[in-house]
Amino acid sequence: MSTDFLPFTRPAIDEETIAAVAEVLRSGWLTTGPKAKEFEAALSAHCGGRPVRAFNSGTITMETALRLANIGPGDEVITTPLSWVATASVILNVGATPVFVDIDPLTRNIDLEGVEAAVTPKTRAIIPVDLAGLPVDRDRLYAIAGKHRLRVIEDAAQAFGASWHGKPIGSTGDFVSFSFHPNKNITTGEGGALVLPTDIDPTLCERLRLQGVRRFGEDGMDVDVLGGKANLTDIAAVIGLGQLKHLEEFTARRRILARRYFDLLDRRLGCELPPEDFENSNWHMFQVLLPACYDRGQFIAAMRERGIGIGVHYPAMHLFTLYRKLGYKEGDFPHAERVGASTVTLPLFPAMADSDVARVCQAIREVITSR
Ligand SMILES: Cc1ncc(COP(=O)(O)O)c(C=O)c1O
Repeated sequence: MSTDFLPFTRPAIDEETIAAVAEVLRSGWLTTGPKAKEFEAALSAHCGGRPVRAFNSGTITMETALRLANIGPGDEVITTPLSWVATASVILNVGATPVFVDIDPLTRNIDLEGVEAAVTPKTRAIIPVDLAGLPVDRDRLYAIAGKHRLRVIEDAAQAFGASWHGKPIGSTGDFVSFSFHPNKNITTGEGGALVLPTDIDPTLCERLRLQGVRRFGEDGMDVDVLGGKANLTDIAAVIGLGQLKHLEEFTARRRILARRYFDLLDRRLGCELPPEDFENSNWHMFQVLLPACYDRGQFIAAMRERGIGIGVHYPAMHLFTLYRKLGYKEGDFPHAERVGASTVTLPLFPAMADSDVARVCQAIREVITSR
């Protein structure tokens, strides 16, 4: 059994991809070019042929989707407090109001019954998050969105490679946003992609991505909309292309490792396990909730002493200062608060050995029982 430090995640980049990056570097064309186009085409193929545009993050993708949907000041957007802060900050960035709804304690994703109850005349959209790669129930989500005529911006940052009853996440639905941050199941170093619905003009999406610029003829240029600077470089795109080749193998390996955690984790320790979903989830993360009253900081430190990295994804966002200033407080979302305070992310990445899972489970047993 290895005793090297085991991080909670680590990207797997093959030599072919490293060589492809070197080739781009030598080519003389580093920014958005043929490789970014090729990456978009490959992503589109993964998403059932839907239009996909690549960006330099999975944050700006969501902000762009909100802009494309004309959501701004005076509008409310419903989302979960249990996510990476980007999910809600994009709502504030377009001048709209985030409305948090508590999670379902079993899935740890937004509680769709709560979503329906939170709809007001000002509600324009829902941003659901597939936490840890476990998809939100798409059937119920779109039934609610359809009933109340709401847009959906799927924050599928963690769900690339996941599916909903056999259909890849991204191949159906309204806007779908992916992140290719290095912790994600496939990476571009940093980057993201936005899948577009049929009523949205992909060229407008492209203009919002790059300074609003529209070119025509040999030398024509116009700017008719305020755009940003969010294009993906060819250097990043070629990493994504190399990663895509391994998607199935990465997801399969993650599933095997997750299954092994279920087999080896000692249930008597009182940790709460994630839902055992081996149909839809891409097992982006394996998260357990520590037994009530167990000090998470001590747990992380004790695991580190044993050479094991533990992540925290995420503290409930509404308790951050920025959101307290909007009026949110303790007790507003008890499930998200409990999960946010007790969740730990165990090591899970494709290059992990089966014996690493045994090592993590043994360390957890030692740490929890020695308290
Ligand atoms: C749930 C969720 N939403 C949004 C993001 C933002 O993605 P990025 O870091 O690529 O901007 C991330 C990842 O970091 C995420 O995990």
